[in-house]
Amino acid sequence: MSDQKLLEAAGSAAERAYVPYSGLRVGAVVTTADGTVYSGANVENAAYPSTLCAEAVAIGHAVASGERSLEVVAVISPDLQSIFPCGQCRQRMVEFDVQRVVVEGPDGGPASHTLEELLPGSFRDWREA
Ligand code: THU
Repeated sequence: MSDQKLLEAAGSAAERAYVPYSGLRVGAVVTTADGTVYSGANVENAAYPSTLCAEAVAIGHAVASGERSLEVVAVISPDLQSIFPCGQCRQRMVEFDVQRVVVEGPDGGPASHTLEELLPGSFRDWREA
C-alpha cells in the first residue's frame, strides 16, 4: 500500500477516535512485511494519563494479533496539520523494529521519517547489548 493510502487508512481510523476531553482525533495504521495493515485510534479517559495514543492502539492491535516485526507506522489527525508521534510511542516503535514513520508533510502529502531521526540513540533491550 502506498504511503498516501496508508495516511488515508489512518484518517479513516481517526473517525473512530474517542476524544471527549481534547477533541483531537488521531488515527494510526501499522503494516507488516506481508502487507497486513492494523489500525488504531486514540482512546481518552476521564483520568487523563490513562489515555491511549492512536499509535499505541495500532501497535497493540498488531502485536496482540501475533505480529512481532512492524514495518511502517502512519499517523494523521483530521484536526491538526502534521501530527508527529509522542516520545512514548516512538519508544514503542523501537521495540518492534518499525522501519519508517509516515506523517502528513507541509505540502499535505506523505513525509517519511526513520526512527533513528525521530528517536536517536534509543534504549533497547539491555540483555542484547
Ligand atoms: N495523541 C495521539 O493519539 N498520538 C500522538 O502521537 C500524540 C497525541 C492523542 C492523545 C490524546 O488523546 C490527544 O492526542 C491529545 O494529546
